[in-house]
Amino acid sequence: MMNKTYSELFSLKGKTAVVTGGIGILGKHFCSGLAEFGANVAVVDLDEKAAGEFAAELAKKYGIKATGLGCDVSAPESVNIMVSKVVETFGEINILHNNAAGKSTDLNAYFAPTTEYSPAEWRRIMSVNMDGMFLVAQATGRQMIAQGKGGTIIQTASIYGVMGPDHRIYEGSYYLNREINTPAVYAASKAAVIGLTKYLATLWADMGIRVNTITPGGVESGQNDIFKKNYSTRVPLGRMAQPQEMVGALIYLASDASSYVTGQNVIVDGGLSAW
Ligand SMILES: NC(=O)c1ccc[n+]([C@@H]2O[C@H](COP(=O)([O-])OP(=O)(O)OC[C@H]3O[C@@H](n4cnc5c(N)ncnc54)[C@H](O)[C@@H]3O)[C@@H](O)[C@H]2O)c1
Repeated sequence: MMNKTYSELFSLKGKTAVVTGGIGILGKHFCSGLAEFGANVAVVDLDEKAAGEFAAELAKKYGIKATGLGCDVSAPESVNIMVSKVVETFGEINILHNNAAGKSTDLNAYFAPTTEYSPAEWRRIMSVNMDGMFLVAQATGRQMIAQGKGGTIIQTASIYGVMGPDHRIYEGSYYLNREINTPAVYAASKAAVIGLTKYLATLWADMGIRVNTITPGGVESGQNDIFKKNYSTRVPLGRMAQPQEMVGALIYLASDASSYVTGQNVIVDGGLSAW
């Protein structure tokens, strides 16, 4: 590593990366960034067909190997099968981006007021955002330990795992044609991700496995103007993020450029948490 030039430190050529939630709004950008820096990519998401189609696009555009795999990260068996398939296809896993988060299938339940929140919805979200993170890190970590060459794990949290939302910004705020908020389960699950990162970082440091968190602030993706304005006035840089702006932190954490960084949380929030 010490013989590499500074730009070579960012290269991911010949590495294999697994990205969960790989066809989501941010996931596609994360996969593209890893591929552009030379990694072979396993695009993991619920819908195998869509993941496969996106993987084929990546392979064509970036000249790397890519595969799409269907996997429910909240189901241990599904996770174990996914990891075996990645190893069958690529031989090993060097980078894990643990990025999937529960989709709002029942929006009324997901955005329900905290005092009336259903335990079933709480569990459903936790089973993906928290249990899923653990299960994928566990199965991939087991594989990385067996390979004996270290690795790097990056887990996506959220700014609301770091700080409480300003609930006033949600007045008149719409997304997906309905009034929105940040549910407590989302904040709690994302705070858990940061704790899991730190735990695994100290546990697996002597195996050469580095574990870090990326914490995105709010990303612009079709929220209404009132929300965008309310959110942006709270941000020192004065705007929401674009999805591409999350990718630099991932490449840094996935590559040798961050070889002395573990257990940390890189917060990409336009300065929201600075004041
Ligand atoms: N977009 C933002 O503003 C924002 C802000 C902060 C943090 N984040 C975090 O960034 C990450 C990516 O977010 P996004 O905006 O791309 O969200 P997204 O909903 O577009 O993508 C999440 C992906 O995870 C997949 N997924 C859901 N449940 C799954 C399961 N059980 N197994 C496998 N895959 C599953 C979904 O199908 C989807 O493709 C998430 O962890 C999210 O919490 C996003």
